[in-house]
Amino acid sequence: MQTYIVNSPFDMHIHFRDDNMLKVVAPLSSSTFVGGIIMPNLVPPVSTKQEVIDYKNRIMDAIKGDDFTPFMTLFFKPYTKEFLSDVKDVITAIKLYPAGITTNSEGGVESIDTVALAPTLNAMAELNIPLCVHGETNGFVMDRESEFMSVYEELAIAFPKLTIIMEHITTKDAVDLVQKYDNLYATITLQHLLITLDDVAGGMLAPHLFCKPIAKRPEDRDALVAIALSGNEKIMFGSDSAPHPKHAKEACGCAAGVFTAPIALQVLTQLFETHNSLDNLQKFVSDNACKIYNMKAKEKSVTLVKKDFSIPEYYEGHGEKVVPMYFGQTISWSIEN
Ligand code: NCD
Ligand code: ZN
Ligand code: ZN
Repeated sequence: MQTYIVNSPFDMHIHFRDDNMLKVVAPLSSSTFVGGIIMPNLVPPVSTKQEVIDYKNRIMDAIKGDDFTPFMTLFFKPYTKEFLSDVKDVITAIKLYPAGITTNSEGGVESIDTVALAPTLNAMAELNIPLCVHGETNGFVMDRESEFMSVYEELAIAFPKLTIIMEHITTKDAVDLVQKYDNLYATITLQHLLITLDDVAGGMLAPHLFCKPIAKRPEDRDALVAIALSGNEKIMFGSDSAPHPKHAKEACGCAAGVFTAPIALQVLTQLFETHNSLDNLQKFVSDNACKIYNMKAKEKSVTLVKKDFSIPEYYEGHGEKVVPMYFGQTISWSIEN
């Protein structure tokens, strides 16, 4: 049987949530991945050192001894250098959300003004704390990411020593921009390598494929696939696995977020194999992240086997039910237990 081994896969953009949902979803990442960037958009958002420490402890309890390192983040606010120096040892990055642009981002930044934000961003650059950004304006939904490119450019130019991660990019414009500035990097999700707006809303509405930023045009997806398959060093995998309860997705007023943690590595393997690019999967899911975040990976080898995997209709536990992308479908790669 055909097998493929990935060493130390990372998921550099994950939503673990809290309480019962955390208990259901965290093990579905920690059983496969060796680590990942944990997003801070809880309610209220993670914004003090004690909150980071407490949240990390709850995650460690939830993953029950799995070999998985949660890289913690803070929700961006204008922080002082003293505060950042103190919190640095417990965080890996800080995540900036424009106010109200996505799930639980109400306390985000009202306007991204490089002068007003300079004290915080300069301190982050000096302390080597990367800035992760949800890059969308509040313009027309299909144009929000492209309109944000000028903001990324301003940030990249004004703070050349700051590592800036363009999170979950969805457009050809973003693929072009990330290659233009040395201090810009990007994550790409599973769904944006696979779907376009047609899959979300072109036929019957598919709430489990609805997320922010919305999936775009075929040419955008093609550009994302091309750069991911190429192994380009500026690009890393970040699933943006974003679980919401089944009832909140299958609702009038569907919550934004696609839950992919339990299927991500298997589907990526299938995608890279289909494009004869399995040789570059290791870079996309591990090596590039280590270089960008300047870290050494712990050993954890994951064996994928070419064997059917029937994706469940939902995952449940602790009173929660959550539906994964491609629920009820069968894919051709599984993780060997
Ligand atoms: C994410 C969530 O549910 O927290 N939703 C999403 O659609 N991507 C938030 C985010 O990453 O923007
Ligand atoms: Zn986001
Ligand atoms: Zn996210």
